[in-house]
Amino acid sequence: VPWTWWPHEDVGHTDEASKELLSLFPGGSPFDTTPKPSRLLERIFQIATNAGDLVLDSFAGSGTTGHAVLKLNQSAPDKELRRFILVEMEARNAREVTAERARRVAEGTPTQRRAAWRASAVASAFVSWASGCSTRTARFGKVVRFADLARHVYFTETGEPLPRERISAKSPFLAVCRGVGIYLLFNGILGDKSAQGGNVLTRATLAQLTPFDGPKVIYCAGCLLGPDRLQADGITARQTPYEIKTT
Ligand SMILES: C[S@@+](CC[C@H](N)C(=O)[O-])C[C@H]1O[C@@H](n2cnc3c(N)ncnc32)[C@H](O)[C@@H]1O
Repeated sequence: VPWTWWPHEDVGHTDEASKELLSLFPGGSPFDTTPKPSRLLERIFQIATNAGDLVLDSFAGSGTTGHAVLKLNQSAPDKELRRFILVEMEARNAREVTAERARRVAEGTPTQRRAAWRASAVASAFVSWASGCSTRTARFGKVVRFADLARHVYFTETGEPLPRERISAKSPFLAVCRGVGIYLLFNGILGDKSAQGGNVLTRATLAQLTPFDGPKVIYCAGCLLGPDRLQADGITARQTPYEIKTT
């Protein structure tokens, strides 16, 4: 039963909120005003919403609402998940803070991702792939076509649909959006369908990609390039999603 008095030990405080944002954006806080701690909103959603509900924040700002819903879902993974819609009117905020924060919370911070990927050899990447899959998603590679996943990751990454002329390109290089080249390694698109083959970002697979002289986001099943190489080549490697839900 909720009490009306919520001490900061339970729901955080503004200093915690600033540190929380800094941990996700180590380069410096990307948002001018002090956000709320995600623990505070998590508590509110725990009380005020039910599993499966859709939470709308039409003044999303730094995206604390999305952060809190994602955390709530992480602590109750077996239940039906809460969903959220965030609306932010400042285009730059929306892209670089609101959406980016949700992405980083969902995927882990860049440091966490790098640490996890450094620790994983190709084999263990595939073990975790398999163990992370439900029965339905274990068939992922068979039921999801490259073009479907390409459209999905491109939209997730950019907020825009994959340009029509690129949909059937059958190339890991999907398109350029706002100066960033987006790539997808999936379903042996490079012609290597072996378990440890063309879906993992290695020096060899990188050499086969259509060159793009600018920052690149590469979706892949695993990454064996070190942080220095990724940084030198302007690459952000992202894990391909385990499943896509369609309605
Ligand atoms: C105080 S901030 C919200 C803080 C947020 N709840 C958080 O925890 O970080 C308000 C945000 O709403 C945005 N905003 C203001 N008017 C809006 C509108 N009509 N539609 C969408 N966003 C709007 C502003 O750009 C600003 O980023």
